[in-house]
Parts: sequence; C-alpha cells; structure tokens
Amino acid sequence: MTRIFSGVKPTGHLTLGNYLGAVRQWVAAEHAPDEALFCVVDLHALTVEHEPARVRRLSRQAATLLLAAGLDPQRCTLFVQSHVDEHTRLAYLLECTATDGELRRMIQYKEKAAKAQAAGDGVRLSLLTYPVLMAADILAYRTDEVPVGEDQRQHVELTRDLAVRFNQRYGHTFTVPRATHPAVAARVMDLQEPTSKMGKSDANGAGIVYLLDEPGVVRKKVMRAVTDSGDGGVVYDREARPGVANLLDVLAACTGADPVRLAEGYTGYGALKRDVADAVVELLRPVRERHAELAADPAEVDKVLREGAGRARALARPVVDRAYEAIGLLAP
Ligand code: TYM
Repeated sequence: MTRIFSGVKPTGHLTLGNYLGAVRQWVAAEHAPDEALFCVVDLHALTVEHEPARVRRLSRQAATLLLAAGLDPQRCTLFVQSHVDEHTRLAYLLECTATDGELRRMIQYKEKAAKAQAAGDGVRLSLLTYPVLMAADILAYRTDEVPVGEDQRQHVELTRDLAVRFNQRYGHTFTVPRATHPAVAARVMDLQEPTSKMGKSDANGAGIVYLLDEPGVVRKKVMRAVTDSGDGGVVYDREARPGVANLLDVLAACTGADPVRLAEGYTGYGALKRDVADAVVELLRPVRERHAELAADPAEVDKVLREGAGRARALARPVVDRAYEAIGLLAP
C-alpha cells in the first residue's frame, strides 16, 4: 500500500495553479487503492504577515474547495494541521536534525524573506524553519508519495535528506518519501507575468485565475493574458515564448492533449485564448457549483475536519512517539 500526503496553505484563494499542479492529482489518487491524507496547513500561513480572521476564513474555504473538487471523506482523510499536535511535536525534533545552512539555501525562503524585507516587515523565524514543519507534516505519517507542483520539489528533497539522516543516526523511524508531479502544468505561470509562478498570495490578481472566479472573470483574465511577440506563429517554447507555452500547458492539462501537438492546430493567439478560456471555465464550473452547495453548510465541513483530525492523530501519534524515544527522550 502506498500512503500519500499533501497539503495546501491558506494564504489566499486557491488558484488554477493549485488545482492543476496538485489538487487534481489528489482527487485521482484517492480512487487508487492507496491511503491518502490531505491537509490544510494553517500553521504555515503564519510565517508571513497575516490577518487572523482571514486565515481562519481561508482555512475553511480551502477545505470546502477540496471537497468541492472531489475529495471524498470516505476515501481519504482531510484535516487541518493545527488540529493535530504531532506536526509541531515532530518539527522540533527535525529542527534538531536540520542545519541553518540547509534552510537558508531554500529558494522559497530567499524569495519570501526578500519580499518581507522590501515591505518593511521583519522576517519571521518560522519562515526559515517552514520546510522543517513541512517535513514533519510528511514524515509523521510515514508517507510514501507527496503529490505537489514543481515549486515544492526542493522542500521534498530536504524532507528526504532529514528522514535519511534521522534514520541513520537514531535507527529506522521514517519512510523516505518521494515527490510526484503532474506530467503537464506542474508549474502554471502568472498570465500577466509568464516568467513567474501563478501564486495565490500575489498582490496583482489580474494574472491569477482563482477557482471561485466567475466565468466572465476567467474569460477576461485569459483573453488579456500576456503573449509573446515574434512571428513564428503559435509554437511551444517555454524559454522563448513563456506566455504562449503557459496557455498551451493549461489547455493541454484541461483536455489531456499534448501541448506541442496543440500548438500545431493554431495560427493565431486569439483562437488559442478563446479555447483556453472555454476549457478553464468548463473545468472549474462543477467545482464552483459544488462549492456553493457545501459552503451553505459549514457545520458539515467542520465535522469532516474534526473526524479527519481524529484519524490523522491516530496515525501520527505512534510514529512521533517512536521518534521521541529514538532521539533520546525519556518516555513520560
Ligand atoms: P501551496 O499552498 O503554495 O500550494 C499547494 C499546492 O499547489 C501547488 N502549486 C502549483 N502547482 C502548479 N502551478 C502553480 N502555479 C502552483 N502553485 C501552487 C504546490 O506545488 C502545492 O503542491 N509548502 C506547501 C504546503 C505544504 C505541503 C506540506 C505540501 C505544507 N506541508 C506537506 C505537501 C506536503 C505550499 O506552500 O503549497
């Protein structure tokens, strides 16, 4: 049996990037004969400037959207990170396993720390230790596979290093996990800045398609997407034509076609954008509709999360207890 774990951070409204890069894989995974856990990682949302009421609202919204996207609480465990203390208990032991240099090398840390400094905010210590908490999220469940977008590759690599190091020093405790990425759209780019990732907490929403955007808004954003100059027609070239390649990737992810082949069917950007807009609107329509139904009954979502936390805790507790013992702590 393969155990799968992944998470999403409630720092903004979920985007098309989250859906194509991660959530869609999660929904597919829960139908395989695997054990799957999915987590709204709310503690991670506290690593940057945040508004308490917004984090709480976005946490419930993320959980509701994951259910709307097709996660079935009968087939997987859906829960909120802060409801299961084992994550922070284990994070401390992994802080005693990781090094300062290792964490300072993380690309996302460098980017986010620079952003916080530019905004005049201090860099929270938790921003540096973030990947250690993420490693704890994964290792507490003896996870085999972590379905994520491309941007999380480095964090999962660190998780693997920490698991191997801990096992070597203190005896076999953790499963060494591997990241899995979708074949296309593992890195959906911003429609206005196609050299940057489409990120849910970015300030300028014009290049970001949110899962809850109305169809008219989705169309407008796609039709206004930045394309590339050049007279070579529609070609798939991520380096030279990042804007067009991104649109082709999104269309490929929506239709199951190959992006290079798709490019051959277009002579102009207008028709391509219209097809991308139609495909994305249709992809998101059932998610939006189901979200509206589920959001009308937040108590039901809370119940799913409570039950999920119970199941998650039961799985994580023995693993984390074992790690406490292995590292040299006296049993209570
Ligand atoms: P987060 O919340 O930024 O993103 C959630 C998932 O969506 C993927 N993703 C994308 N995929 C393709 N294109 C994009 N533009 C795009 N933007 C986001 C991310 O790769 C991710 O899979 N650190 C994680 C959350 C986390 C986690 C974990 C994940 C905490 N603990 C344990 C897996 C396992 C994060 O910030 O994801």
